[in-house]
Amino acid sequence: MLKIGNLNIKYNTMLSPMASLTDVSFRKLLDEIGFIGLMVSEMISAEGVNRLNKRTLSMMRSFEFKTPQFIQLFASEPEPFVNAVKFIEKETNFSGIDINMGCPANKVIKRGAGAFLLKDPKKIASIIKEIRNNTKLPVTVKIRLGYSKVNVFEIIDILENEGVDAITVHFRLKSNRYNERANWEYASSIKERIKTVFIGNGDIWDASNAKEKLKFVDGLMIGRGAVSNPLIFAEIAGEKRDDLRFKQILERFLELIEEYYKPEFRLAKLKAHTRFMIHNKINSKKLRQRIYNSKSFKEAGNYFKSIVL
Ligand SMILES: Cc1cc2nc3c(=O)[nH]c(=O)nc-3n(C[C@H](O)[C@H](O)[C@H](O)COP(=O)(O)O)c2cc1C
Repeated sequence: MLKIGNLNIKYNTMLSPMASLTDVSFRKLLDEIGFIGLMVSEMISAEGVNRLNKRTLSMMRSFEFKTPQFIQLFASEPEPFVNAVKFIEKETNFSGIDINMGCPANKVIKRGAGAFLLKDPKKIASIIKEIRNNTKLPVTVKIRLGYSKVNVFEIIDILENEGVDAITVHFRLKSNRYNERANWEYASSIKERIKTVFIGNGDIWDASNAKEKLKFVDGLMIGRGAVSNPLIFAEIAGEKRDDLRFKQILERFLELIEEYYKPEFRLAKLKAHTRFMIHNKINSKKLRQRIYNSKSFKEAGNYFKSIVL
């Protein structure tokens, strides 16, 4: 059990925010499976929220889920963050706010947001101070080890000073690529010094690895590994690996895409998840190609259902 702000979090494993992947259909799938403490939405532009941008609002659809849902925001200045946070607190039922200080994508960095903020500790302090003063919702922050050099200890001190409720560290620099392993060596020295809830993130693909890493942190965020196997949280909690259940999960996911998206968006949605869902699976190359080449959601869905855990 973890406490994040006023929330009691039942499991110490969480879904990491991923653009176009941790959308409402995938979060609903995990909510139905259970055994997960918290989920974070795709990153959402705070300025898009402030403009009431139609696409942004559709990405923010929230429902009554069993698992607490946090919304992740990105921006470069305190003001858009604060306005978006006020709107979310008043108009949605998200349980908390996660601030993105780790995204390396060029379009985000160019706007001075995401991991760019790691270069400006003063700006980080003013953003969190303003957000903290304007909401009662729990506020968490997701960072990396640094931008091009490690400054994670300095950033953690600032975030703690401004009263964040949890900090997630993705153990890579902004400049690291995924083919370099996440640098978990930093976990124990951060744990020794951090006072707030400390969540570790990076390269967790199975339950045994997750259990090993949980020795060094208060909680784990899992991203690609959760798309690859949505049952990973149940397996960490002690459920047996189950091929049949995995098949049912794939079928349920197709139903949820149909439930939440209009027909013209369904195929793209399925293709986005296929990239990681097919990771490490039998016949993955051939199946991936078939799904990517499919012309309809139904055709892609038939191939998708044949993925074997
Ligand atoms: C396709 C994709 C989209 C992502 N989008 C976000 C995002 O919106 N916000 C964020 O903080 N991190 C984002 N990330 C980073 C993940 O949350 C996570 O930190 C990273 O993938 C490492 O964890 P993993 O090895 O468990 O996947 C994204 C990663 C991927 C692969």
